[in-house]
Amino acid sequence: MEKIKVILDVDPGHDDAVAILLAGRHPKLEVRGITVVAGNQVLDKTLQNALNICEYAGLDIPVYAGMSRPLLREQVISTVHGESGLDGVEFGTVAKRAEDQHAVDFIIKEALASQGDLVLIPVGPLTNIAMALLKEPRITKGIKEIVLMGGACGQGNYTASAEFNIFADPEAAHIVFSSGLPLTMVGLDVTNQAIAYPHVLDRIKGLGSRVSRMVVDSMQSYYAAYLTLGDWPGPAVHDVCAVAYVIDPSILQVKKARVDVETNGGLTYGRTVCDFRAAPDRPANAQVAVGIDQEKLWDLLISVLEQY
Ligand code: RIB
Ligand code: CA
Repeated sequence: MEKIKVILDVDPGHDDAVAILLAGRHPKLEVRGITVVAGNQVLDKTLQNALNICEYAGLDIPVYAGMSRPLLREQVISTVHGESGLDGVEFGTVAKRAEDQHAVDFIIKEALASQGDLVLIPVGPLTNIAMALLKEPRITKGIKEIVLMGGACGQGNYTASAEFNIFADPEAAHIVFSSGLPLTMVGLDVTNQAIAYPHVLDRIKGLGSRVSRMVVDSMQSYYAAYLTLGDWPGPAVHDVCAVAYVIDPSILQVKKARVDVETNGGLTYGRTVCDFRAAPDRPANAQVAVGIDQEKLWDLLISVLEQY
């Protein structure tokens, strides 16, 4: 069975870390590289976290440093993941180094060399993806689809209107959503249901590996931060949902929609405006995740964590 070639674009981030573990060992995926962007923390920290995770988990995947700031707006950093961006996990000294090539140039190189079968899975702000599209528009020929974690049809999480990944760089998101590429938006409407409940963490803990222990430790720290946001029954592992969908599309239910990104609003800045009405003058530009099979998601993740 031919593997699916993917690039995972991340801003680790506790849920990014689990997404890396899922992508890194699933037999259906060929992870060509991990590109890193500022988001949950500044780029130095998100990059170090990505290197730490790969080395700790024994993943021999090249890691590329990307954009350190949004295209236009002032930088916003999420507080949920803590000062390090991955609070609650101690990695010790790490030998793995980032590749010399910039993440944007790596994405361009991979897409131009691809036969149209490259899948991009961005799970942070879309700055790297937007920059690649701006710098080399021809890359669209090599990209099969973009499956991104971001946005929401309903409530946001960074503001009432906007989800963090989009809010952190709305102009980049606008460029991606108007690229004309096949796009699946895996937003809060489903990822807020991807809760690492205690019974899920018990299953992961039962795997008894150093990686499973790292996941449980990181989720406990992530959950402590979540509890400052409200009475959540557990932390939401948003980014895992996008990777899981590429592996097994039956995990999510999707619907075609026209999605526009608000780049001018005050209260609505960074909102993904999802229109499910079919309109000839405003054709659908994405499919939006509207349902999730949580049991399938956790069974998939745990089946891969068993490989570590
Ligand atoms: O809103 C959730 C998203 O913001 C996730 O990608 C999480 O890692 C944070 O970046
Ligand atoms: Ca993320």
